[in-house]
Amino acid sequence: MNLPSGQRPGGDAITVRNLVKNYRQPAGGTLAAVDRLQLTIRAGETYALLGPNGAGKSTTIEILEGHRRPDGGEVRVLGTNPWKAPPAFRARIGIVLQEASDAGELRVHEALGSLARCFPEPRPVAEVIAAVGLGGKEAARISTLSGGQRRRLDVALGIIGRPEVLFLDEPTTGFDPAARRQFWDLIRTLGSGGTTIVLTTHYLDEAEQLADRIGVINHGRLIAEGAPDQIGGSALRIPRVRWRDSSGFHEQITEHPAALVSEISGGGSRELPELSVIRPSLEDVYLQLIGSVEEAGPPPAEAAGPGATAAEPSREGVRS
Ligand SMILES: Nc1ncnc2c1ncn2[C@@H]1O[C@H](COP(=O)(O)OP(=O)(O)OP(=O)(O)O)[C@@H](O)[C@H]1O
Ligand SMILES: [Mg+2]
Repeated sequence: MNLPSGQRPGGDAITVRNLVKNYRQPAGGTLAAVDRLQLTIRAGETYALLGPNGAGKSTTIEILEGHRRPDGGEVRVLGTNPWKAPPAFRARIGIVLQEASDAGELRVHEALGSLARCFPEPRPVAEVIAAVGLGGKEAARISTLSGGQRRRLDVALGIIGRPEVLFLDEPTTGFDPAARRQFWDLIRTLGSGGTTIVLTTHYLDEAEQLADRIGVINHGRLIAEGAPDQIGGSALRIPRVRWRDSSGFHEQITEHPAALVSEISGGGSRELPELSVIRPSLEDVYLQLIGSVEEAGPPPAEAAGPGATAAEPSREGVRS
């Protein structure tokens, strides 16, 4: 792994301890959007934050970027408190927000060129345009781009400064399938170059393809964490065997599917129509994780306390 200077392989790029963010609710009371969240992301790691709508992913990412002030806990990104970070910190991170900023009348190459001048070692504009698949659109006004092209530009703006840590909040929303594959290649290239990448997505195949580790959050808390093929533990990954025989359709959950298949097929001597062994996908595991929290119910809303923030805008001037 080829890490930027100042980062050790296996060192921590991001640490979050007991992070709390409260929003005051219009109807009274407080919503704990982030509720004592614990997170450690290693330098050079690609980490996917998953969770249902309203789980607190964007709020967490915005706090890590320094756009939103936490109400409690401790956050360090590249050893720095992002809310109090000096301008030099901004040059070390790249940001793709969930909500794109105002498009304006700038042309694609102008937007990238003017942002590039804010960084000490920017990537060449032409290289970034090619990497996100916007070749041919250099001179287009941003307001004329399609939704997916606009999102590609957001990604380009996020990587132009050669960031050490890249935050991507639902980066591929609106991408066509080919654009998503191209984006995956780009992220793999950045990851193998040592960039630490924090990504949120509702596409579980994207998390599976890209992430070294996944964290699932719900109601502002981390409820599971692990590699894509291990998260949730073996109990949520027990295969099921389905088959049909003369007595009808059968389905059995077993940790030893090969032994069961051998038994029901008479050691392989009997063909079984519709025989299949189904291993739970990441989506199955995720839905079980989320479901188990939903059954327990969300934490109750509390009375608005002094730390609660009413509906608040995040910091302006995000990309320099
Ligand atoms: N500026 C704000 N003011 C008040 N409440 C907010 C604000 N931003 C977010 N919230 C609330 O905080 C909770 C967490 O929102 P957040 O945007 O972090 O969720 P998310 O996990 O990113 O969801 P999604 O997958 O839909 O993007 C939600 O209930 C949301 O309504
Ligand atoms: Mg969000």
